[in-house]
Amino acid sequence: MQQSEVQALANLLKRHRGQATVFTGAGISTESGIPDFRSPGTGLWSHIDPMEYLSVDALYARPHNFWKYFSKVFGPTLDAQPNAGHIALAALENAGYIHTVITQNIDGLHQKAGAKKVLEVHGHLRTVRCNSCGRQYPMKEALAQLPKVPVPRCDDCGHSVRPDVVLFGDMMPPAFTQALQAVEQSQLVLMVGSSLTVSPANTLAFYASHLAIVNRDPTPADGRADVVVHGTAGQVLTAVTEELKL
Ligand code: APR
Repeated sequence: MQQSEVQALANLLKRHRGQATVFTGAGISTESGIPDFRSPGTGLWSHIDPMEYLSVDALYARPHNFWKYFSKVFGPTLDAQPNAGHIALAALENAGYIHTVITQNIDGLHQKAGAKKVLEVHGHLRTVRCNSCGRQYPMKEALAQLPKVPVPRCDDCGHSVRPDVVLFGDMMPPAFTQALQAVEQSQLVLMVGSSLTVSPANTLAFYASHLAIVNRDPTPADGRADVVVHGTAGQVLTAVTEELKL
């Protein structure tokens, strides 16, 4: 991370103040102890096949396996805390630099850090819903049923439940349409901590007329960005808030 890159990013945010949207991926949560998906060696997908464990097919064809894996991998995330990157983005939103946080993350850490307008395009971990009557429950209540029962069930009708997370094979939720509208109403998209490899979410980063990227590793969009800062989100975004005297 170069100070000149931080200044360039701060100037871009100043120039487009109030007309910027942030788009985040798993990379902003690794500093909260939550592994991302594609970092070599540490990413979740470097040691399991997402289709085997996190797809709609896995949920309905192999529910015992699905919930065993889901509770092991995502259960701890429910108690994760936001890091400096989430806090810096909330400060940028509260100061009026950005109007919307679009996230692919299901960990809810933007809201825990104080962000107000958050669009979760891949759903969230807070609740599950019944596959039959549609009633929603807190995720913690569903996970508490395990391992006594292999698959959590609805208190009302006894059917199995599913997480309110977008699984591989699911339709995109209304939040994705809202995210598209938010980006169309933005001059600048600040992309933080995503490899930009999963569509259609990754297409969002290409709609605004200006793009800035904060990511540890290079991304496919680096070539079309006004500013690219390779570094850790917490350090870079904190430096940007300091540059803007927040
Ligand atoms: N600071 C900045 N960038 C980081 C950090 C960090 N501390 N840690 C990791 N990164 C970067 C990595 O270099 C990588 O490019 O974050 C990116 C994370 O990429 P992925 O693991 O592919 O995560 P993401 O882009 O969010 O994946 C999108 O794929 O499997 C699906 O549903 C899942 O929402 C997820 C989607």
